[in-house]
Amino acid sequence: MTVTVNGEERVVEVEPRLLLAHLLRQGLGLTGTHIGCDTTNCGACTVLVDGAAVKSCTMLAVQTDGHEVRTVEGMAQTNQLHPIQEGFREEHGLQCGYCTPGMMMSAMALLQRNPDPTEEDVRWALSGNLCRCTGYQNIVKAVLWAAARMRPVEA
Ligand code: FES
Ligand code: FES
Repeated sequence: MTVTVNGEERVVEVEPRLLLAHLLRQGLGLTGTHIGCDTTNCGACTVLVDGAAVKSCTMLAVQTDGHEVRTVEGMAQTNQLHPIQEGFREEHGLQCGYCTPGMMMSAMALLQRNPDPTEEDVRWALSGNLCRCTGYQNIVKAVLWAAARMRPVEA
């Protein structure tokens, strides 16, 4: 199968039963995608498939044949953090960091379809991502920080 991962076309041979999360982590070495449950609960494995947030432990790798996948490794550009990553740093949106890649990918999907979300919009978009550490408040603030940074400045 052929899948574009973080802008790079990858040709891989996979078993039909292989999960996308395992292709990314073990097949391609992209261990920023975390696995926290394997039961579609935690969201730590969230990536973008054609721009939509997907729990990669719940999708077969072969389902991405011919599609585009974006992982947390594809966020920063040449030593420049993505504004969502900056937001998590500025607003202290992480503690242990285990949930963080999935949180950021869900945030990315939200901000691509809604550049000016309300706090409620953010909470709804992140409702499939669990965090054991932060209490969520600073994660929400981080996403709102990023949204403000990413919006074009109005004339
Ligand atoms: S590892 Fe995929 S939802 Fe938890
Ligand atoms: S920062 Fe530890 S699980 Fe979210």
